[in-house]
Amino acid sequence: MRLLSGLVLGCLCQYAIAQNPHLHNVTNRPATLLAGNWHYIVDPYETGFRNHRNWTPYDEKEAATTSSAAPYYTNRKQVNRWDRIEYDFDQSPTLNVPGDWNHQRPELLYYEGSIWYKTDFKYNLPAGRRLLLHFGAANYRADVYLNGKKAGMHEGGYDPFHFDVTKLVQAGDNFLVVRVDNRRERDRVPGMTTDWWNYGGITRDVSLLEVPQTFISNFFLQADKAKRGRATGWVQLDGPQLAQKITVSIPALSVSQTVATDAKGRASLDLDISASKRWYPERPQLYEVVFKAETDQTSDRIGFRTIETKGKDLILNGKPIFLRGICMHEEVPTRMARAFSREDAQLLLGWAKELNCNFVRLAHYPHNEHTVRLADEIGLLVWDEVPVYWGINYENSATYAQAESQIRAMVERDKNRASVIVWSVANETPREDPQRLVFLNNMAAAVRQIDNTRLLSAALDRTEDKATNHIRITDPFAATSDVVSTNEYLGWYGSTPDRCRVVTWNLAEHDKPFLVSEFGADALFNHRGDSLTIWTEDYQEWLYREQIEMLKKIPSWRGVTPWILADFRAPRRNLPGIQDGWNRKGLISNNGYKKRAWYVLKAFYDELEQQWAYEIED
Ligand code: GCU
Repeated sequence: MRLLSGLVLGCLCQYAIAQNPHLHNVTNRPATLLAGNWHYIVDPYETGFRNHRNWTPYDEKEAATTSSAAPYYTNRKQVNRWDRIEYDFDQSPTLNVPGDWNHQRPELLYYEGSIWYKTDFKYNLPAGRRLLLHFGAANYRADVYLNGKKAGMHEGGYDPFHFDVTKLVQAGDNFLVVRVDNRRERDRVPGMTTDWWNYGGITRDVSLLEVPQTFISNFFLQADKAKRGRATGWVQLDGPQLAQKITVSIPALSVSQTVATDAKGRASLDLDISASKRWYPERPQLYEVVFKAETDQTSDRIGFRTIETKGKDLILNGKPIFLRGICMHEEVPTRMARAFSREDAQLLLGWAKELNCNFVRLAHYPHNEHTVRLADEIGLLVWDEVPVYWGINYENSATYAQAESQIRAMVERDKNRASVIVWSVANETPREDPQRLVFLNNMAAAVRQIDNTRLLSAALDRTEDKATNHIRITDPFAATSDVVSTNEYLGWYGSTPDRCRVVTWNLAEHDKPFLVSEFGADALFNHRGDSLTIWTEDYQEWLYREQIEMLKKIPSWRGVTPWILADFRAPRRNLPGIQDGWNRKGLISNNGYKKRAWYVLKAFYDELEQQWAYEIED
């Protein structure tokens, strides 16, 4: 179906996969973690999910997410000695959950298809309470069955989802079956090809949250850019008793506000934070905010800061800043696996801090919530991005619905994180596709509907005139972006690093901050030679030096996130003895060793830190 104009697109979103409303602040609620060894069945032929004669799913009519019909792999057990059952979860091997399947079994390293998981748990849900089953993420589609009944289906490989399982949980013993399918498909987001490993499985935490019938399901509280000294937002209830009084307090500031929710369970918030210490990367001040309703209570730790642009300047709490950044994938290179834990976040963000970064670009998809919460705590600004990456089916309204679902989920989850300052809707998408602009502008509108306190951008396309050596950002989405950002590989793709000396960046048409969201070169750790020998640390080091000298000349340059913190797995990178399935643009090798270019960037960041130093008021 051709994607019509933006206006029509909005109403085409009935194709959106039915989603539960966002469940907020999960990590601050008491929960039962379903972590550990889950039995699994590899199912490349969809034996468990589809009728083999006509390929129709056993349990759903396309977009529906819950139904009474059951799939074949429902955890049946033999009763009579003549029963023929050609699977048995409990006799099958196990995988660790959370965690991608690729790194856990050699035969699953490249696996793309469906895997069925099964775990058991005991539960006794007190009367009057609700039970929510929450997943931090599963890549790419998850079909979830509790005690043989469909709880729901979710599509999207990097965003949280949950199902209310109050009516499905049994007193005592329960069994949970989850089918995860990580196939790349033309209409999915991302599409058929990326430059990262297609890690599949239940990749993040699974937890059971017990809540009152009516609970605080969502809230938003951020420093208000228009009302200095105030934090504004809203609080939302979910359940039958939507009209309640809710007191929101910030004990450390001795401020509170009592509000009455409306018939939809929502109330606006406006608190005095004039006595607060603003959040800075150098002083990541967080405040406990307590939300106390008549039927529920929850709390979160929130930092108060403002981020805006003023012409070519990025302004944090009224002060011009420079973003000393680095890109990172959600992967622990030494484990060759998706990062998922707080410890993994401490390793990766610890490396960024060691590089003297004040900023990280979480490429190219939302990372796990531990990462953004740790960035809040240790003081790193964050670029948050969804995988609208390279070839996406911009013509397809179901694809758009999926992209919007993913970016809404990302903004909803991270909207109270002071560290997050940029929402990115895309990476290197073809500007010549007319539907692509409609697609991205609709996503931008969806983001701003939820949060207009942060900046919006994307890794934009640019034009390099080989005759004049002039470079411009001519991507039409630059008009929508608050920050003009682009990935440029001068000195790597199509040229050697000396090219950096002859080009001129013409950005005067954009009265906005300019951010280089990627530059870099591959280098195999300890592979040495003269600086013109490709794949050597010497070449990568030379490129970094030339890039820095070039970028320093650009008047509106306000930040950079070189590609990339660490070497990462990539099926498109296959030069034997050099790449071997790794993208080697890391400043840190897959074994955790720093390359020579690390020290070039570190020295430059130490210089920039002094050049852009600012006073932090008490
Ligand atoms: C692209 C892309 C990255 C990729 C990198 C590279 O700009 O955004 O995902 O890994 O370049 O070519 O190494």
